[in-house]
Amino acid sequence: MQTALIKNLARYAGSEVTVQGWLYNKRSSGKIIFLIVRDGSGLVQCVLVKKEVSEDVWASASRLTQESSLKITGLVREEPRSVGGYEIQVTGLEVVQIAEEYPITHKEHGVDFLAEHRHLWIRTPRQTAILRVRSEIEHAFRDFFYQRDFVLADAPIITPAACEGTTTLFEIDYHGDKAFLSQSGQLYNEATALALGRIYCFGPTFRAEKSKTRRHLLEFWMIEAEMAYFDIDDNMRLQEEMVYYVIQRVLERCSAELKVLERDVEKLKSIQLPFPRISYTEAVEILRKAGEDFTWGDDFGAPHETIISNHFNAPVFVHRYPTAIKAFYMKPDPENPAVVLGADLLAPEGYGEVIGGGQRIDDLKLLEQRIAEHKLPPEAFQWYLDLRRYGSVPHSGFGLGIERTVAWICGLEHIREAIPFPRMLHKMYP
Ligand code: 4AD
Ligand code: MG
Repeated sequence: MQTALIKNLARYAGSEVTVQGWLYNKRSSGKIIFLIVRDGSGLVQCVLVKKEVSEDVWASASRLTQESSLKITGLVREEPRSVGGYEIQVTGLEVVQIAEEYPITHKEHGVDFLAEHRHLWIRTPRQTAILRVRSEIEHAFRDFFYQRDFVLADAPIITPAACEGTTTLFEIDYHGDKAFLSQSGQLYNEATALALGRIYCFGPTFRAEKSKTRRHLLEFWMIEAEMAYFDIDDNMRLQEEMVYYVIQRVLERCSAELKVLERDVEKLKSIQLPFPRISYTEAVEILRKAGEDFTWGDDFGAPHETIISNHFNAPVFVHRYPTAIKAFYMKPDPENPAVVLGADLLAPEGYGEVIGGGQRIDDLKLLEQRIAEHKLPPEAFQWYLDLRRYGSVPHSGFGLGIERTVAWICGLEHIREAIPFPRMLHKMYP
């Protein structure tokens, strides 16, 4: 007997297959039992008619509880009214385990309850749809970089110094030395970019965020690219092509998942290249016209980002932020050193910043000065300064947060659903 994934059942119409999965739901009329089975790839309705199956099969089906594991065999037939468009006319059933009473029933549960049962919550159709889209997004990023001759160069997780400010560092004991979980692979990316030209890394990053928001995790995954000889404009062009590519891939390959999520796909389909670009100063103008009392030089909060991005139907680049609010490594604009050659990409529909990036300081003296101004320990940055001593070149890069991107593309209200096991303030179980 051939085993099949539920999502591929169309290929098996008219033949017998075995599906290996779990019972999602059951209905019975006395003479017919309808089993809704899930296997991780989708849901299918399996029909047992009492007078057409053996007594054993009927008895097994009768004792199945929600989430019992099973192998079910039968004839695949088209049934447009059924979930997924196909149905299985059951001939055989092997019970693998009868599940105990399942905590997550088909009625509504509060989100705290679901979060505590995340290891089971991820079995529900909505959560599996999100995790499948996440997987597609991650593959799409990798394919994009592979097609463009980028080298995948993994950055370390344990680091001796801060990259994104000292207030969100997770400190660990490195056999008596102080070490930190990586906030960003960027500094190492700059080294590998000068070795390999164009590189990216993709891994978990950590920030001891002290605020509880819909957009912040304490552990999140970041795609970070770094390119030798790229300026701020080359950098933005690459980013928009990358984001556009990923959206097309999800539209092409995840339509079933987006349907489960009730995502308004027109909002994604209408996104075109190039993405709009505005300066920080122009963004401040937009805020003031919207009635906000905003001081030039302040950083944007989530509500500000929403006002700005609502002006556009596509993601928007905001470039040339004030030097004082950006990281130590950002290159000042030669035409106006009060701002830096950095750019953030704000997603539409109020999803806020998904990318932070920019051109890096390539001058040794200026970088030494910045490290001192930011009160960073100079010893820890000697290797980083070496990159400006030996063959320094203009270079740029960026980091994209995977969970924020998944939340936006899937249309989620909260980032906690965008990762299998979210790490949030005071929450790390399970
Ligand atoms: O803007 P950030 O802090 O930039 C950097 O870390 C750069 N060193 C990256 C680089 O140039 N290589 O973070 C980049 C992105 C943000 O735009 C956001 O999408 C995501 O990482 N991010 C978070 N996502 C979830 N939870 C958090 N606490 C996040 N902090 C940043
Ligand atoms: Mg940022």
